[in-house]
Amino acid sequence: MHVDIVREPKKHDHLFVLLAEGNTDLDLPESVAKAVEDARFEGRGDESLTILAGEPRKITLIGLGKHDALTHRGMRAAVTAAGRIAKKQRDAKIAVLFPYTLPDRTADETALAVADALAQSDYKYDAYITQKKEQKKIAISGSVIAPEADAKKSTAKARALAEAVATVRDLGNTPCNVMTPRRLAERAEEVCKSVGVKCTVYGKRDIERMKMGGLLAVNRGSVEEPRFVVMEHAPRKARAHVALVGKGITFDSGGISIKPAEKMEEMKFDMCGAAAVIGIMEAVAKLDIPVKVTGIFAATENLPSGSAYKPGEIITMMNGKTVEIVNTDAEGRMILGDALHYASNLKPDHVIDYATLTGACVVALGSEATGLFSNNDELARKLIESGERAGERLWRLPAWDEYKELIRSEWADVKNSGGRWGGAITAAVFLKEFVDCPSWAHLDIAGTAYAESETAREARGATGAGVRATIEFLQSLSR
Ligand code: BES
Ligand code: MN
Ligand code: ZN
Repeated sequence: MHVDIVREPKKHDHLFVLLAEGNTDLDLPESVAKAVEDARFEGRGDESLTILAGEPRKITLIGLGKHDALTHRGMRAAVTAAGRIAKKQRDAKIAVLFPYTLPDRTADETALAVADALAQSDYKYDAYITQKKEQKKIAISGSVIAPEADAKKSTAKARALAEAVATVRDLGNTPCNVMTPRRLAERAEEVCKSVGVKCTVYGKRDIERMKMGGLLAVNRGSVEEPRFVVMEHAPRKARAHVALVGKGITFDSGGISIKPAEKMEEMKFDMCGAAAVIGIMEAVAKLDIPVKVTGIFAATENLPSGSAYKPGEIITMMNGKTVEIVNTDAEGRMILGDALHYASNLKPDHVIDYATLTGACVVALGSEATGLFSNNDELARKLIESGERAGERLWRLPAWDEYKELIRSEWADVKNSGGRWGGAITAAVFLKEFVDCPSWAHLDIAGTAYAESETAREARGATGAGVRATIEFLQSLSR
């Protein structure tokens, strides 16, 4: 949805008013105040009510639940509901009034968050639906009414963020016969070019020259060449340097340790970490964030074939460490190990990686939170706080050295899987072997990068997990 932030309502077909329980003395338009009064609308989380009005034609009240418990996520769910109603009712011009400020946020920041949520609310990936329903063709324009916001500036920011998230979702949703490593790198180049970010794409020869043994091993089973991509946003007066690293497995069959057939198609989303890094670069450039940001991703398919890597092999990684392969389905850590080593060589202040890394993380946290692992308490705290403000939950799990015992190998420095116990943790501890930076964080987005079914917050498919929390974090570095 195309969005803007306005100080006063214009002409709209449908006005959505988001109301919390237990709020009094709100300065509502008269027609809205009357509707609330007449219908005894309380603002409960499960409440919504549409009335026919004069101008605008319709007013819908949407409950937010208790006023004291108002959160970014609660707001998002209500705004998403509004967008969906508008789409069903084929409204062309809608407005949203959220007469509160979110916890720890200014009026500007609140308006921006509402606009970002609204922009995503009617998202649907339908590039391959050949007969689109008439309904889908309606382009809705949505205005966020925010009397106290700096409308122009907030509109630009909200659009930058929403466009970046849409980029990530489109990349993730694109079918895996199209979104190959080559195509993913091409898309990174296109996005970078459109926003003035430098982008370097390395092919198989370069990857061999750099001795990225992990990436090359995983790639051996595939006829598609691997790619290694480096994107640079280098503003003149940068306050810090942050390297972002993404897992770009464009399809994960498990390889020789093949996965069961059920839901294997969802493994097209195994490149959502790389997609997040591309989207973050887009937003960072558009918002001109005064932090040096290097975006890095490794991309390949993970497939079985006569040339595929096998359990029992020992692989020498870019940093010289050796890895005994016990499960070819633990491929994400193999390509990330090399990418993290490459990132560490740049000597950035912080390294953050994004990866749909383990089913174990999904078992632990479901789809409610991204798993966070870090060797630095302050970075972990800042990321969690940034996520809280941006409406993205990160939950920290340990990466203690004691867990290294589980990935100890008889034949090599480490083995690539520690089995099922503490599966998300042993994966993080494996990654730590390849990080040489005192401020590193690993985000396991396996449960949050895509939604299996429609949720209150997102449509089915790729969600853009990681983007909002990271942009918030990068902005906090520059304050
Ligand atoms: N891409 C998967 C992890 C995943 C699972 C992402 C479910 C999203 C949803 C990863 O490459 C994988 O297969 N991990 C294995 C590791 C195991 C072999 C140690 C897993 O989680 O089962
Ligand atoms: Mn796998
Ligand atoms: Zn994978």
